[in-house]
Amino acid sequence: MKFNHFLLKMNLQMHKLYSLDELQEIISLKLEEEIFNSKPEPNGLYEPIRYLLALGGKRIRPALTLMAFNMYSEKIENAIDAAIALEVFHNFTLMHDDIMDNAEMRRGKTTVHIKYNTNTAILSGDAMMVLANQYIAKTPVEVLKPVFEVFNQTAMEVCEGQQYDMNFETLTQVSESEYIKMIRLKTSVLLAGALKIGAIIGGADQADTEALYRFGVNLGLAFQIKDDYLDVFGDERVFGKKIGGDILANKKTFLLIKALETVQGTTKDRLLEQISTTEAIPEEKIKLVTDIYRELNIDNVAKEKMNYFYTNAMLAFEQIKVNELFKTELRKLTGQLIERNN
Ligand code: IPE
Ligand code: IPE
Ligand code: MG
Ligand code: MG
Ligand code: MG
Repeated sequence: MKFNHFLLKMNLQMHKLYSLDELQEIISLKLEEEIFNSKPEPNGLYEPIRYLLALGGKRIRPALTLMAFNMYSEKIENAIDAAIALEVFHNFTLMHDDIMDNAEMRRGKTTVHIKYNTNTAILSGDAMMVLANQYIAKTPVEVLKPVFEVFNQTAMEVCEGQQYDMNFETLTQVSESEYIKMIRLKTSVLLAGALKIGAIIGGADQADTEALYRFGVNLGLAFQIKDDYLDVFGDERVFGKKIGGDILANKKTFLLIKALETVQGTTKDRLLEQISTTEAIPEEKIKLVTDIYRELNIDNVAKEKMNYFYTNAMLAFEQIKVNELFKTELRKLTGQLIERNN
């Protein structure tokens, strides 16, 4: 009995661990084989899907699913379809988000609704949501029900977050906690859900599954604050999105909320005037608001908040009970995400 237990432990400690690069390669190959190499009709529906997916991106969400999974199992084939589902779902949200945010550039290229047209971006986006469901449905049947529940809850929460994001465009008073709630929904739950789905398919216990989810939520909060930061202070060629897009859309980003909390006097009047109009000359508006952020040291306030959530994420990470060896790649990816410029 004791010996069996020992063997079991050895076995758990010795299953194959994939590197981040290997997992990214597996994800690329799967996309290549099943999506890029197939040309279903009508082309007008499917081509924009391939266009957006082929622009790449960091492929974080499927990587998170596979990494969480690989902490408990080496049979990547059991989780790869769910991983693809999350990437396809993510790209669907981007296709519609770019319509909603009036964005012209994504991953350094023209957005779908500009390259094709808005109706195309709506319908191809809808088809991507269906495609994501088709991939989730390929999850091994023993765990399909809980995985499907997490997927659907996550998808609904992303829609809720996106609605708050739009509601906030026309409000001037949005508190930090309302903002955090909004980004938890629109961004964090998808990272957290990706991890949770990987953990469930891998057979993690409930405590680990929840720790991974908490890790993902906090990582997601840091991730979205960094996205807000890069939208103002990033390098357009690296970030791949138009710098100042959030300013032009009157988005209630972390930067703006913090600026509104501290700004005073005539600067306050100038800032309030800028964010209540959609008529301003774009370059002037971006420059004015960015200058106010700099003046108020908002870039550092954002970095501090990011670090706060990053620290929280790592606290949850430490609670995952697997051998430290199994955590190496996920720790590495987390570091890269915090340091990223794209
Ligand atoms: C963009 O997500 C949307 C946000 C949640 C900020 P990513 O920054 O992961 O985009 P890609 O997939 O790498 O392009
Ligand atoms: C990210 O919001 C959330 C979703 C896309 C669902 P953003 O609007 O900030 O994302 P980007 O900056 O356009 O990628
Ligand atoms: Mg948006
Ligand atoms: Mg956007
Ligand atoms: Mg953004």
